[in-house]
Amino acid sequence: MEKAYIHYFSGTGNTRRAANIINEGLSHYGYNVTLVDMSIQIPNLETAPLHVIMFPVYGFGAPSLVLKYVRRLKVVQEGRAAIIAVGGTTGELSGFEGQALNQVKSHLERAGLTVGFTDLVTYPENWTQFFNSPDVPTTKNICQRADQSVADFTEKIALGHISLRHKNHLLRTLSVPIFWAYHTSADVFSVNYT
Ligand SMILES: Cc1cc2nc3c(=O)[nH]c(=O)nc-3n(C[C@H](O)[C@H](O)[C@H](O)COP(=O)(O)O)c2cc1C
Repeated sequence: MEKAYIHYFSGTGNTRRAANIINEGLSHYGYNVTLVDMSIQIPNLETAPLHVIMFPVYGFGAPSLVLKYVRRLKVVQEGRAAIIAVGGTTGELSGFEGQALNQVKSHLERAGLTVGFTDLVTYPENWTQFFNSPDVPTTKNICQRADQSVADFTEKIALGHISLRHKNHLLRTLSVPIFWAYHTSADVFSVNYT
């Protein structure tokens, strides 16, 4: 049985929900999966050919906690990686990942992993500083749509299909200052590993 790690962080449960779907899907494809909550610890990784990194988007980037985690990730064997960013919506629109996928991808590549899959999935919005949460029926619809996307991702990841999310350079560039404003002031999202 091939081993796979799912490294996830979830502020309010959406990413955890998606991680459980990937867990079930990869197990169905015969992987021996270990779920690792990034907010708890960096594990001593055993040899594993597949790493899936999952996290919510905060201010058009990856949360500080996630960036710290992937920077310190020690991979003991070359392998492949998949990155899933989890955005938010109040209705039909897709979330926007800004810098998030790029940031994490470059850290993983530096750690020696080959990143073959990157994508965004959009669950209910929790950025309540700016948006009201969707009502219950809308939340249900968003979750159903997102769960289906995550199930589709699982198949591509398990079968090793190369699929990298299309880049919108203009929007990503515009999102840089907002990401840095969040990143530098958002200690609330960070964990210090000692
Ligand atoms: C401070 C903050 C910033 C956010 N920024 C973004 C963003 O830039 N793009 C996006 O699509 N969603 C953004 N969101 C929404 C969350 O990423 C989204 O609701 C996600 O599904 C939450 O996942 P979780 O429940 O695993 O934490 C933001 C949420 C918060 C709290």
